[in-house]
Order: sequence, then C-alpha cells, then structure tokens
Amino acid sequence: MALIRKSKKFIWHRKHLLGLRDLSAEEINYIFETAKGFEQISTRSVKKAPTLRGRVIVNLFFEDSTRTRTSFILAASRLSADVLDFTKKSSSVSKGETLLDTAKNIEAMGVDIVVIRHGAGGAAKFLSRNIDACVVNAGDGFCEHPTQGLLDCYTIQKIRGSLEGLKIAIVGDIAHSRVARSNMWAMTKLGAEVIFVGPATLMPAGVNRMPVKVSYSLDEVIEKVDVVNMLRIQFERMGGNPFPSVREYSHYFGLTVERMKKAKQDILVMHPGPLNRGLEIESEVADGANSVILDQVKNGLAIRMAVLFLVNQASAYRDKKTKT
Ligand code: CP
Repeated sequence: MALIRKSKKFIWHRKHLLGLRDLSAEEINYIFETAKGFEQISTRSVKKAPTLRGRVIVNLFFEDSTRTRTSFILAASRLSADVLDFTKKSSSVSKGETLLDTAKNIEAMGVDIVVIRHGAGGAAKFLSRNIDACVVNAGDGFCEHPTQGLLDCYTIQKIRGSLEGLKIAIVGDIAHSRVARSNMWAMTKLGAEVIFVGPATLMPAGVNRMPVKVSYSLDEVIEKVDVVNMLRIQFERMGGNPFPSVREYSHYFGLTVERMKKAKQDILVMHPGPLNRGLEIESEVADGANSVILDQVKNGLAIRMAVLFLVNQASAYRDKKTKT
C-alpha cells in the first residue's frame, strides 16, 4: 500500500521519490493537489512559508543542470529549508571519493533530504538503501526523471483539465531519455495514449513491452496528437552515430513551422530543455503560441515544493510511528 487512508484523507508515506513507475494515479494526483496549494506562495510579496524551517536539503548533482538544480534550490528556499548545493566539478569526487562516501559525509552534517542527479541508472535507489535521509531522484542515467514527468503532466492537466483520452507524442531520442520514461509512466497512468516517435536507432530496447505505441514518422503522427513533447538528442550519451546527419534528422523529426501547419490548432508544444534550436525544434515553434515550455519550468517549482514537503512529511510520520 503506497498510501494510508485516514479519515477519508490520504497520508503520503513515501520517504523517497525514486521514479514514477511505481506510483499510482491517485498518488500522482495527490502531488498535483499539494503543488496547487503551494502555487500561491509564489504570488505573495514575501514568497516564503515556514513549512520546512529547520530542515536541511542537499542538491547532490553529478551531472550538469540548469532547470532542475535551480528549481530545487528555489523550492527548498521558498519552504524555508537550509540548502547545500553540491556539484561534482568542485568536489572531492575528482580525488576519487565514491558516491556513497560523498553522500554519507554530507549526511553527517545533519541533512534531511538528498536530491540527487547521477549518470548511473539506479543511483538514487542505491542511496535510498544506504543512507537515512529522504532521497529524491533528479535524474538517473536513462532511467527516470520523476519531477520532470510530474511537472509535464501537471502542465497538461492545468491547461486541458485532465490527461484522460489525450494523445501525446514524445519525439526524438527516446533511447537515451529518462524524461521519456517518466513521462510514459505518468501519462499512461493518468489515462493518456503515448506514442514514441523517432528513428528506429533511437528507440529503446524492449519498446514493444512498454505501454506505448511506436511510430517512425512524425508527419503521420503530428496531425492526430493533442500534445507533442520534443526531446533533445543526447549526443553526450551516445557511442556511434544514430542517424546519417543532423540535417537529415531535423528534416524528418524536427518540429518546424511547416510541420506545425498540419497539427491541431490547440496542440501543446512541450520540451524539457535544454533546447537545441534548429535541430529538434525551430525557434519560431519553441517561442510560438502553442509552446508551453516556460509554463513547464514555472510549474516545476510548485511540483518540487510539493515533493520536498511530502517526503519530509512521510519521514516525520515514520519517526513518530517508531517512537510510539
Ligand atoms: N529538464 C531538465 O532536466 O533540465 P536541466 O538538465 O537543465 O535540469
């Protein structure tokens, strides 16, 4: 049981957020309700609530990030927590210190929540089994990026009211994308039909066993979908060349002004960032009327406030249960 029923209300009991694969639709909606409650804090003149006062949160980022790292820092700060910001480049990892030693040493300073991004799939789960603090996955290898999946679905739900029955295309480098996987789990649980679109060389192994349709033609899909989520080509994660040239990739799988003419008028254009303008998406589309790319970033703040709040609450609930 992921949630404990108490007087018809849910009590969140996950001390860690490692991925969306194991979450129920009910839990995802509970995070959205919590995020909605936090949104108004950002509209106040003093943008702070004392919710996590006295708590210490560390951002443990072993890979580069703009949106996720700053958003977690701001989310923690809005909830009045103390924040430590660790990046691999300026750390003792360069002297050979392991992930676990790094985490344990930082935890020894009295850290309550560890937010981790790591290139190795399973890194967040590994930490959750080896330290006492709450662990939030901010992206692990190709596996999951749960807060991105949540903020993407939250953005769609805010605009469309629900994901039920929507057709959503996720386009591009699916094979190397943790965003695609977290999107897939959350979107299908919330009732959407997900179509992975891209060249065969960028489809993940075992895609036929995933709860998605597959298409190798964006032209065939674009006119049918309500949402299109464009992914960056993750050259840094590749060995060889998955397509003959960048120009050819753009020709077949780029979201261009021309291709947008075939799309539904109210299609939502999404991208998790960072954008490669002119490669997977033309600037006119990224900045156009259908784009909700900056809404995604804005909504990420409330989602991350909700996640930090809920894992902390679950941890406090467990501590109380242990003492009684
Ligand atoms: N969407 C996303 O994860 O962006 P960053 O890599 O900048 O955090």
